[in-house]
Amino acid sequence: MSFAFTPENQKKFEALLTKYPTKMAALLPTLWLAQNQNGHLSLEVQEHVASLLDLSPVHVHGVVTFYTMYKQKPSGKFHLQFCKTLSCGLCGSEDLIRHMKEKYKLEHGKVSEDGKFSMELVECLASCGTAPAMAVNEKYVEQLTVEKIDELMKKLSVA
Ligand code: FES
Repeated sequence: MSFAFTPENQKKFEALLTKYPTKMAALLPTLWLAQNQNGHLSLEVQEHVASLLDLSPVHVHGVVTFYTMYKQKPSGKFHLQFCKTLSCGLCGSEDLIRHMKEKYKLEHGKVSEDGKFSMELVECLASCGTAPAMAVNEKYVEQLTVEKIDELMKKLSVA
């Protein structure tokens, strides 16, 4: 079945268009709306957004692949993004990422069997001053330690 906005989201999309001087300028919030509806931005969804905004699918795909907030594949209920860039690396992110693999069987690009967790390694989350950092869906968790991660995973497991 092809992707289309729900009637409610179609109204939101039309309202978005009135806030920007060009259709192209509404690309980021339109993608966000589509992702919230579909869970991720498949190529089909990207093509639909491109047609809505009179853009080429290649342009839209370039934007989707640039920003870590956009997901191209289905993710778990809790999507864990671990920063793998320098400041976090210097503060021990590799040990934390290894811990996720050893203890929780989670690694880059994987979704847990129960669909609860997915994990992705990303570039700088712009939280270098409180490294190492990760994002759980849209919320940041900073100054990570193994203990902090274990506590968080325990909480999320029953959420
Ligand atoms: S290097 Fe990890 S948040 Fe910037």
